[in-house]
Amino acid sequence: MSDERFIQSGTRERNLGMELVRVTEAAALSAGRFMGKGDKIKVDQAAVDAMRQALDGVDMHGVVVIGEGEKDEAPMLYIGEEIGNGTPPEVDVAVDPVDGTRLTALGMSGAIAVVATAERGTMYSAPPGVYYMEKIAVGPFARDVIDINAPISTNLARIARARDARIDDLTVVILDRPRHAEIIAQVREAGARIRLIMDGDVSAAIQAAMEDYRGVDVLFGTGGAPEAVLAAAAIKCIGGAIQCKIWPRNNEERDKLKADGIDLDKIYMTDDLVKGNDVAFAATGITAGELVDGVKYFGWGARTSSIMMRSRSGTVRYIQARHKWRASPDSLGKSTN
Ligand code: FBP
Repeated sequence: MSDERFIQSGTRERNLGMELVRVTEAAALSAGRFMGKGDKIKVDQAAVDAMRQALDGVDMHGVVVIGEGEKDEAPMLYIGEEIGNGTPPEVDVAVDPVDGTRLTALGMSGAIAVVATAERGTMYSAPPGVYYMEKIAVGPFARDVIDINAPISTNLARIARARDARIDDLTVVILDRPRHAEIIAQVREAGARIRLIMDGDVSAAIQAAMEDYRGVDVLFGTGGAPEAVLAAAAIKCIGGAIQCKIWPRNNEERDKLKADGIDLDKIYMTDDLVKGNDVAFAATGITAGELVDGVKYFGWGARTSSIMMRSRSGTVRYIQARHKWRASPDSLGKSTN
């Protein structure tokens, strides 16, 4: 396609992601106020309130598929809640007002506010009792070579080959959890480098998938099931792959899931988690991170840093916004320094 035709086709369509950025910005601006104050509940509450309010203004008829829990657990952004101003398009909505509540409460890096949409009925809605998933996520270069059932060393060898690299050139991102001791040992044994993170595997999966980031090559390990769907939405836009398996935390959970007819051997591929082809994804940094910067407040406003993606075009936008709630010194002719 010529540049001109590309520009015409790309700019005629509405881009819901543009509006979603304002939603994640609102959540980040509110949650960021509680950075380092040691209170996870307040962090989450501030983000949920702001996100819920901002979603009202979005031109869409959305239904929350990934949210804050069932209606009796969450007063807002509960699963099944209708959001947006009710006009088309009809979409599924996945939200995580804060991925990294503890990171924010402790003032540590990597917390983001996240929203994604896809055509109605195309996002995976985890059945009751499914809380965690085993995950492997990579970018486009290795999307066809990974296999969640294969040993860690096999996956690393295949990813290295796909990257035209050696295993010891690769960096693996893993949530720092006791349950990952065996994975960490196997990665070390294979010779790859490791980046352990305290929280935030949505951002980590995106970093693993982004060709132009290159800070990490693959995400391994078990994290939240809702976070897997959000990561899949972003990966749909970037073009990489995520594979997941439901992970019961103990035998009791395993027996219950089996009794409910849930296939614990099933591999959820990117398209099983988000099968829509019109996916929009937005995330805004709450605390400073490698993917996006955190919120910075000034007396007169604040600055946010976001990432926005869209599957139809494959466009990834980095958006720096200056939010002004009163006249800034520069607008009054004074220096901001
Ligand atoms: P929250 O900010 O919602 O608590 O999630 C943080 C997170 O690290 C996710 O990114 C990850 O998927 C999940 O928690 C892992 O769960 P756990 O902390 O129970 O291991």
